[in-house]
Amino acid sequence: MKKILFLNCSPNESGNTYTIGEKLLESKEHEVLQMVDYHVCQYGQVTEEDEISKIFSKIDEADVLVFGAPVYWYTVGGLLKTFIDRLYMLPEAEKLQGKEMYLFAQGSAPDEATKESITFLANRVASLMGMDLKSVVVDNSSGSRILKEMTIE
Ligand SMILES: Cc1cc2nc3c(=O)[nH]c(=O)nc-3n(C[C@H](O)[C@H](O)[C@H](O)COP(=O)(O)O)c2cc1C
Repeated sequence: MKKILFLNCSPNESGNTYTIGEKLLESKEHEVLQMVDYHVCQYGQVTEEDEISKIFSKIDEADVLVFGAPVYWYTVGGLLKTFIDRLYMLPEAEKLQGKEMYLFAQGSAPDEATKESITFLANRVASLMGMDLKSVVVDNSSGSRILKEMTIE
């Protein structure tokens, strides 16, 4: 059986992102990683307090990565963006290769440009990191479209 890891990239551990992700995965065995529990330094400002390796230990054990993020300022929120920034030239990032990737984002009223740019970002990150992007959906906070269109295999 495939191991599924849901990475909640919202600072709210039980907010809309978490609620939608848990509904999406309610019939599937999965683990949850609360991104906010880890100290991930900004690219270019990495100190010994950095905990990105701990995130990669969890990623390493999974076959399927489900990233969920809130929309902040027309793109994914900072927790996910900082993680993505850090992938640049990071040796551990090779652990992403071959993983199945799903990404959903939700905001109070994401506009079309936001949907397009997040979809573009997900496609580019997946392709550059060698991940198999299965689905990307950007929705409002009800998450109804995410739940309708995203099926985790
Ligand atoms: C700093 C900030 C910026 C936001 N920017 C947007 C935005 O550009 N578009 C949008 O639709 N919602 C925006 N929102 C609303 C959040 O995406 C929305 O409240 C979301 O459901 C929060 O998810 P959470 O409960 O998982 O934290 C913003 C919220 C915050 C705090």
